[in-house]
Amino acid sequence: MTYIDPNISRRWHRLVLGAAVLGISALLTGTSAGAASVDKAPFGKTQDGKAVDLYTLTNDKGASVKFIAYGGIITAINVPDRWGKLDNIVLGFKELADYESKNPYFGALIGRYGNRIGGAKFTLDGTQYQLAANNGPNSLHGGSKGFDKAVWAVEPLTNVSGAAARLSYTSKDGEEGYPGTLTVQVVYTLTNDNELRIDYEATTDKPTVVNLTSHSYFNLAGDGAGGIGDHILTINADRYTPVDATLIPTGELASVTGTPFDFRQGMPIGARIRSNDPQMVYGRGYDHNYVLNRSDSGLSLAARVYEPRSGRIMEISTTEPGVQFYSGNFLDSTLVGPTGQQYRQTDGFCLETQHFPDSPNKSSFPTTVLKPGETLKSTTIHKFSTDAS
Ligand code: BGC
Repeated sequence: MTYIDPNISRRWHRLVLGAAVLGISALLTGTSAGAASVDKAPFGKTQDGKAVDLYTLTNDKGASVKFIAYGGIITAINVPDRWGKLDNIVLGFKELADYESKNPYFGALIGRYGNRIGGAKFTLDGTQYQLAANNGPNSLHGGSKGFDKAVWAVEPLTNVSGAAARLSYTSKDGEEGYPGTLTVQVVYTLTNDNELRIDYEATTDKPTVVNLTSHSYFNLAGDGAGGIGDHILTINADRYTPVDATLIPTGELASVTGTPFDFRQGMPIGARIRSNDPQMVYGRGYDHNYVLNRSDSGLSLAARVYEPRSGRIMEISTTEPGVQFYSGNFLDSTLVGPTGQQYRQTDGFCLETQHFPDSPNKSSFPTTVLKPGETLKSTTIHKFSTDAS
């Protein structure tokens, strides 16, 4: 079904939306107008009866990003390998019911607070706020019903060079224990340069804490292609935030030099993953926040991943101060993907751009406090290419 009018053909829809999207550049370059599109189709109903649609953003190269209104979950990213073959490079499920009942945050928008808040509580302006302890003693990814479980309002956008959609959600004052009504907008853009750009904005009516991110599990060889140990990862960080046994940062910004955390030169993810460094034992592998090297607050390179078999490359730039590198350690073969593949430990990895975990309880970390009158703005770009391009 097309987004604008279910009765018009996909071709017509592509012409209408594509003309707006590509505008003069299409005329100048001779690109077939209308190649970029936003399509919508029913995906199912939530257990409490809410209809959930699946949206497909397609760019003029034929690459696509699919997401659902439930949790803003990115269910597929189809990008070319070095021979031009499109494959889906993110883990997911076939059915909405699986996303509702057992999703380890595959593809989801995370809020209000990405990653952990220690002891499931924090104090702001002298008041202590109690959160849901949904991860041992800590609160993880916004609590028991975080933004990954909300049904977001979605509208297509046409004033971009690619295909885009805006997702909106208003989190009520007190939801999951957090103060303030938080109004959140996230824009997913698939550019004609094969970039997935994610722009976040949030405002509040009372001081609160916010840390928004996106939780795709990537396998650049293709979803279901096996382990990610051979992916060559570079992280632009001299330091990381070591954790305690419950994965809460100790507060130290430790040097990566001489540790399995040093990814400043590209290294296979699997090369040091079985290290008996106590930090690796706590997380059963990599589950750590990196302190990104940056010279200003603009977009800067956080990480690069290269997959040798397919030739695919993903470069992540962000305005955020940190990135959580999670090597899929808690996948345990119990979850099954859309084409029947079992997800085993380290079959996917996450690079979640973010503020540091437990910042509300760590005054030395960059602040996550948002006040009335301020607008949180954050951008992350995933650029997909290959070693042949
Ligand atoms: C966390 C992991 C967690 C995973 C999935 C990551 O962001 O750091 O500890 O297991 O999300 O829930």
